[in-house]
Amino acid sequence: MKNVALSVGRVLTRHVGLKSDLPINIGQAVLILLLSSSAAQAAPFAGGHAENGKKLFAQYECSSCHEGKVGGDGSAIFTRSNRRVTSSKNLVSQIEQCSGAIGANLSTQEKQDLAAHLNQTYYKFK
Ligand code: HEC
Repeated sequence: MKNVALSVGRVLTRHVGLKSDLPINIGQAVLILLLSSSAAQAAPFAGGHAENGKKLFAQYECSSCHEGKVGGDGSAIFTRSNRRVTSSKNLVSQIEQCSGAIGANLSTQEKQDLAAHLNQTYYKFK
């Protein structure tokens, strides 16, 4: 990756025709800006591991109450037309509320993992 960045940087510098005495050239600076701005727009819960979230969901039996409320395997609670969660922000607060109800003390990472799983599978917030 670093080598790719360096050679793309060199190409950019040559084509833009700018020279720089700084330790990094203009092309590299542009590239770094591009990379950091795409990171800022990363999907919500980019730090969450959806696979682990899926395991936690089973482990904490998250569906147990949801089944009673909406029937089936309980997943319809996430897709119903009048669903409560309408943004990536209140997904985490709902997870906190539900896990609090069962006395589960989830870590910040676990909440992110659960949110990543539910977002990837149902909500699809960008
Ligand atoms: C003690 C029962 C219970 C447990 C256990 C439970 N939930 Fe819930 N959950 C609810 C109820 C009730 C609602 C719906 C609230 C409403 O409709 O007003 C809900 C709704 C939700 C919603 C919002 C659905 C929507 O409408 O968009 C999410 C997300 C959610 N739960 C996540 C979880 C997760 C993750 C776990 C496991 C850590 C979990 N829940 C465990 C009772 C529970």
